[in-house]
Amino acid sequence: MCGIVGYTGDQQAAPILLDGLARLEYRGYDSAGLAVRNGDALAEVVKATGKLYHLADKTDQGHSLPGTCGIGHTRWATHGDPSVVNAHPHVSGNCTGSGSGKVESDVVGVHNGIIENFTELKEKLLRHGYAFYSDTDTEVVVKLVDYYYKKYKIGPVDAITRTMVRVRGSYALALMFRDYPGEIFAARKDSPLIIGTSESASYLASDVPAILKYTRQVYYIDNLQVARVAPGSVKFYDLNGDEVSLPLTEITWDAAAAEKGGFEHFMLKEIHEQPQAVRDTLNSLIHDGQIDLSATGLTEETLQALRQIDIVACGSAWHVGMASQYVIEDLAQIPVRVELASEFRYRSIPLYENTLVIVISQSGETADSLAALRVAKERGAMTLAVVNVVGSTIAREADHVLYTLAGPEIAVATTKAYSAQLAAMDALATQMALVKGTVSREQYGHLLEELAAIPDKIKRILEDKERLQWFSSKIANAHDIFFIGRGLDYAISLEGSLKMKEISYIHSEAYAAGELKHGTISLIEKNTLVIGVLTQSQLFEKTISNMAECKSRGAYLMGVTTNGNFTVEDSVNFTVYIPKTDEHFVSSLAIVPLQLLGYYTSVNRGLDVDKPRNLAKSVTVE
Ligand code: F6R
Repeated sequence: MCGIVGYTGDQQAAPILLDGLARLEYRGYDSAGLAVRNGDALAEVVKATGKLYHLADKTDQGHSLPGTCGIGHTRWATHGDPSVVNAHPHVSGNCTGSGSGKVESDVVGVHNGIIENFTELKEKLLRHGYAFYSDTDTEVVVKLVDYYYKKYKIGPVDAITRTMVRVRGSYALALMFRDYPGEIFAARKDSPLIIGTSESASYLASDVPAILKYTRQVYYIDNLQVARVAPGSVKFYDLNGDEVSLPLTEITWDAAAAEKGGFEHFMLKEIHEQPQAVRDTLNSLIHDGQIDLSATGLTEETLQALRQIDIVACGSAWHVGMASQYVIEDLAQIPVRVELASEFRYRSIPLYENTLVIVISQSGETADSLAALRVAKERGAMTLAVVNVVGSTIAREADHVLYTLAGPEIAVATTKAYSAQLAAMDALATQMALVKGTVSREQYGHLLEELAAIPDKIKRILEDKERLQWFSSKIANAHDIFFIGRGLDYAISLEGSLKMKEISYIHSEAYAAGELKHGTISLIEKNTLVIGVLTQSQLFEKTISNMAECKSRGAYLMGVTTNGNFTVEDSVNFTVYIPKTDEHFVSSLAIVPLQLLGYYTSVNRGLDVDKPRNLAKSVTVE
């Protein structure tokens, strides 16, 4: 939610800031703003509502805003509506009209996160004569920094640390002080922030793709730390104001990985990158015909002793958990509970010894998943993070980390990160089964072969995408779509339904097929589209019967099934076949046509596929 950028160096800042914001737009896109200063001159702020191109137009692609030091923000509204006045940057002084223009104030800043006690702080500042022009919590935090800065006549670092002690909530902050030209001060707690350097410039950003074009040398600033950023040099401080040193890390991602590469949308590109994402993830885990978890620090003894697994995640990552539940229980015979992180964090679930809590997250920054991880640790559980973004907070705080190698995912709707998570969890389940002795060596070898074959099978499904493009044009005006399945097919239905609704805005729901007649079937009417996932041979007949029940009430049926199950065509109107695989690993294949269906339906409805309304890629607020 929200993306921030900063630049100080010898180049014009505004075009670099806009370029960085363009790569962070997935984090929020209801308004955006820049503050840039030229040497000692006052900073100038420009803001615009709507997508980033409005701000780019307003500043002549940044060229009308001269200066070599600046900060920028793309917003996903939390406090206050998406108006110009609520857009960042915010200033410590008064502000008239839209908030654009020269900044007479001492402090100007941008923020990603939520200040929970902002009302109480606002009242305090009101008592001290501050006036507020916006509804945002950010304006409060900028003014609080200003208050300490002036009251104690201290430098920016101390004013910021005093503020950090006083505020509750999450933040990545970037601030410029009128008395400190050419410098940006940053602070972080529970919201992502990286700082990059090159010889003559320094950059800060909420995420790596924003600065990848300029530098690969980055610092991951820790929670409750402050950074003083000057051209080509960065200093870090702890909450006491004492300088601390942080390691410089080299980013190995290919810059092209964060570009569209000839595809019309990031989502389509990322759907096509799934074979690679799955292959890379599996290759990092399978060595010499063995799954090797040594990089995660999970030992054979630890796996052997496991009595219970709790998987905690949000959205699609939770769907991966739902699929993994079936796979782990069936292969390794370990009981698995799957919890939504937003629920888990407020429940008092007893966590016994030898319980492993697995937190699955692409971004590694999702607020609820992070909170759930912390709750699990507080209760003494061992934790494993399955995360895509290296160095993210969840990855750093978990006891063990298994990295998925999906590379940067830009489209808001996840595809390749989801598939990489499935592959990682399937490999983990397979290894648990071997260690627990619930599969023989021979079965283990067969499972590994099946895993290794998945990337090519996904490729084969993608080769037939035009059929889905055609079918989506027929259903683009649907009002309701139901996805049904049993067992693993239910978990796949959940993700298929989310892919459809989040980008096409067609209402859709996923149901365990056996549940339909306990209420939902009353919603089926003439031509309601019901999509059945039919990959589990033992459950096939049962789901087909449920689909037939829908058909007799007028439903139009689509089926996703495995090659060879041709009898399906006797019952359904449109069938998609996926290659045969071990049934435990079928989610990685069956989801692909459903991703394509969601994608093409969104395109056919003329919607913004990569940036669906009201959503942001990384949900760093509760
Ligand atoms: C849906 C989607 C979201 C995320 C969820 C968790 O397409 O992308 O549902 O899966 O917000 O995000 P991460 O995995 O970053 O924790």
